[in-house]
Parts: sequence; C-alpha cells; structure tokens
Amino acid sequence: MGSTLTVKKCTKLPKVRYELNPKFGTVFSPHMLKMTISAETNAFEAEITPFQSEMMSPATLVLHYGQSIFEGMKAYRQKDGSVAIFRADLHAQRFYKSAVTMAMAPLPEDIFMKCLMEFVNFEQESVPSEPEHALYLRPLLFARDELVKLGPSKKYTFYIMATIAGRYFAATGITPAKVLMNKMAIRAYPGGTGEAKTAGNYAASLYPHSQAIKMGCDQVLYLDAVTHDNIDELGGMNFFMVRGDELVTPKLTGAILNGVTRRSILEMASKVGMKAKEESISFSQLTQDIKSGKIKECFACGTAATVHPIGTFFIQSSPSTSTETVSLPSEFPVALKILETISSIQRGQIAAPGDWLFKV
Ligand SMILES: Cc1ncc(COP(=O)(O)O)c(C=O)c1O
Repeated sequence: MGSTLTVKKCTKLPKVRYELNPKFGTVFSPHMLKMTISAETNAFEAEITPFQSEMMSPATLVLHYGQSIFEGMKAYRQKDGSVAIFRADLHAQRFYKSAVTMAMAPLPEDIFMKCLMEFVNFEQESVPSEPEHALYLRPLLFARDELVKLGPSKKYTFYIMATIAGRYFAATGITPAKVLMNKMAIRAYPGGTGEAKTAGNYAASLYPHSQAIKMGCDQVLYLDAVTHDNIDELGGMNFFMVRGDELVTPKLTGAILNGVTRRSILEMASKVGMKAKEESISFSQLTQDIKSGKIKECFACGTAATVHPIGTFFIQSSPSTSTETVSLPSEFPVALKILETISSIQRGQIAAPGDWLFKV
C-alpha cells in the first residue's frame, strides 16, 4: 500500500510585515509545517501551526552527532498573481538523497511534495509581490531520539518554515563578490558527504567563512581535497566561469552540491546564446586566464543569491605567503543576462525550457 498524508491546519494568522530587502533568513512567515516520522511511517500526519519555538531535550541526537539535512528553494509570485515553486521536484529528489546519505528515514518524494504544496498554499499570502523578492522555503529533517550514544536515530522531525527573501548580498545594485580561496580550507572529500545538504558540511565551512568575512570577503571558494587545484564550489553556491561562448562549471564529483540553479543554468544556456560545459576547472589556470584576459567573467549561483558576479579572488596559497588578489573586469554582461533570464523564468514572465514551475 502507498503512503498517505493528512495535514491538520491551525487558524490562519495575518501575513508578516517587512521592510524591502530584509536581512536574509530573519523575517519568518507566520506558519510552519511539522511532522514526526520514522523509517516505519507509512501514514504521515503533518500539522501546520503558528511559527514557534519548541522544547528539545539536550540529549536530542542531532545536537550531538549532526544528523540533519535541509533544502532551500523559493516560491515566486507569478505575472498573473498566482504562486509557483521553482523546480520543487529536484529539491524533493535531493532531500531524499541527502537523507539516504545521512542514514535517516527518507521522506518519500511524493509526501515531501504534498507537504510543500499544502504549506505554500496555506502561506500563499506571504509570497512577496515586490520585484526581486520571493518566499524562501526551508524544509528540515533532523534526528529526534533522546540518548547520548552514537548511531542513527529512529525518530525524526520534519519541518517546513519560510522567510521573506529579497537581495542576498546588498540592498542596492549588484556589487561583484569578493571571494577568498584559502588552499588550507577543505570543505568535502571523495567518499564524504559533500553532495548531501547536511549540517556538517556547513559547520565545516564556518571557520573559513569567518576568516573570509574578517578579510572583507563575502564567500569562500573551495578547491578539491585531492589535487588542491580543481575548483569544487563556494560555501553556499556553485561556481561558473565564462569562456568565450561557453558557460563552464565544475563537473559533479560527489563532493559538490548538485545545485538546482547550476543545473537550470546548464539547461537554459542556449536561451542566452551560450554552450554549457561541465569539466574540471584548475584554479591556477583560471587565475592565469583572468590575468591574460582570456576569462572575463566568473559568477556564483544558488537559490538564495540566484546569480552573482565575482569581482576579486583573494588567494592564500599557504599560511606563510601573503594574500594575492586577482580581479575580473567590472562589467559582467553574461552573468547579468543569465540573472535576468532565470529571474524571468522563475516569475513566469518567459517560458522555461521544461516543467520548472510547480503552480500552487
Ligand atoms: C554548498 C552549496 N552549493 C551550492 C548551492 C546552490 O544550490 P541550489 O542552486 O540548489 O540552491 C548551495 C545552496 O543551497 C549550497 O549550499
């Protein structure tokens, strides 16, 4: 017998008030969806409640061993006033895969999708209509057993919460990102959990990120753990370079998040007159090519930031050498064109190359 889902709903609260471009992740919509599951769950029972804090035992497994996964996607107000979630199916698939990697009770993709649709339907009024704004959706699954012994949990809690998202980096204009490449900082490694959207990957990136912030940078660019030269990705975004008429991104190695924005850019490349390529990108070759003028644009991409040009790399090759900087030209027409095209697709202003929008 297939899985079933019932959703209990509270009385609707008024929509949240916010200033334009609120600080990312700080303005929550009024409700959340909550559900307890285990590997045996077949009849799923979710509840939509007011967004609220909850009591948790200090022995809860997730707090000790980090068995936790999440997703990040956006619901957009469409040209006709309706609401659609961008590529929700790919996020459901990735959530399932992350759960398997982390030995968690995986949520069947159809139940994930139904929960998402129920939640966003209930929360529709909170989806912003202002340009460049969206409702950022954060599904979360974590280990809920209460014992201090290493091992996978039997019980898990699933949440969907949402925040009002405007511009990710700056309140006005597009300021190209400053990116720190510290050769000593490793995010993921072959056979590890790099491809899963799990808490530990982000925990490992916090120290390098704080170093980057101290240096006035916005993000960290990670190289692979074997050659220490091939580009993996940024702490919270995938990486692209523009080489002539090609959009080039590192191929998926298992250590890189299989980004939905990355995949969408590859699939829509021809819409902006470009070819899509996935290949190993040597960072040392890239910096030479930037200096010689062969590479004129690099950009980061992800759900939160969409598409963001990179302005300068701050390079730390060893603890004893000083920081070298390599800057890209201050114009970034290809990144802007991709940003404009994908943003228009997300808002239903131009047609997507496939079934990318899930109407609520
Ligand atoms: C490590 C990492 N890489 C890449 C991405 C971009 O992925 P997506 O386009 O699916 O948001 C994210 C964002 O979630 C991320 O956290």
